[in-house]
Amino acid sequence: MIRPCASSEFKVIYEIINDAAQAYKGIIPADRWKEPYMAESELRHEMNEGVIFWGYEEGGQLVGVMGLQNVQDVTLIRHAYVRTAKRNQGIGTKLLSFLRGQTARPLLIGTWANAVWAVRFYENHGFRMVSVEEKNRLLKKYWSIAERQVETSVVLADQKWFDLYQSE
Ligand SMILES: CC(C)(COP(=O)(O)OP(=O)(O)OC[C@H]1O[C@@H](n2cnc3c(N)ncnc32)[C@H](O)[C@@H]1OP(=O)(O)O)[C@@H](O)C(=O)NCCC(=O)NCCS
Repeated sequence: MIRPCASSEFKVIYEIINDAAQAYKGIIPADRWKEPYMAESELRHEMNEGVIFWGYEEGGQLVGVMGLQNVQDVTLIRHAYVRTAKRNQGIGTKLLSFLRGQTARPLLIGTWANAVWAVRFYENHGFRMVSVEEKNRLLKKYWSIAERQVETSVVLADQKWFDLYQSE
């Protein structure tokens, strides 16, 4: 079942993110890794900035989360995490499909360049990587992240974004 996360679920969202983010350990640049990967204060900040989390519930337990954030003229998919033990069972696909139905705006996703599984996951769902020049521009325009994270990230966009902004 996919449903909006309640504000009372802050702790479980935090747990899922930091459990799933273990996948990044040893993969993303060492200077970007920290434990926990996302501090409570950062998660709180993201929510205050308008990230709306949706959750996938199984047997009464939240097992995956994915956030949507409307920024200017686009929607960003933020913080997509499925519990490590529940990975590769189709939960991320269901969440992504559901979230795509929640917005009419072009969708953008940013992730670590080294997270090849995440890039493949989004590519398998029709997202395409934008050029390096474009991702640098987009990350600065729509995200609030450090310069070092811009360097080590990629951006993927859906067909609607390409139709609107890369039609030439
Ligand atoms: C990326 C992530 C959110 C995807 O969620 P997920 O639930 O594992 O995704 P799915 O199971 O739908 O799909 C993952 C793969 O499992 C495969 N799969 C789906 N259902 C399956 C099943 N029943 N049995 C076996 N494999 C299956 C899919 O083919 C898919 O392969 P692909 O990635 O090459 O397309 C999750 O793996 C995760 O949290 N990873 C760590 C954190 C991360 O990288 N987050 C992304 C940040 S932007």
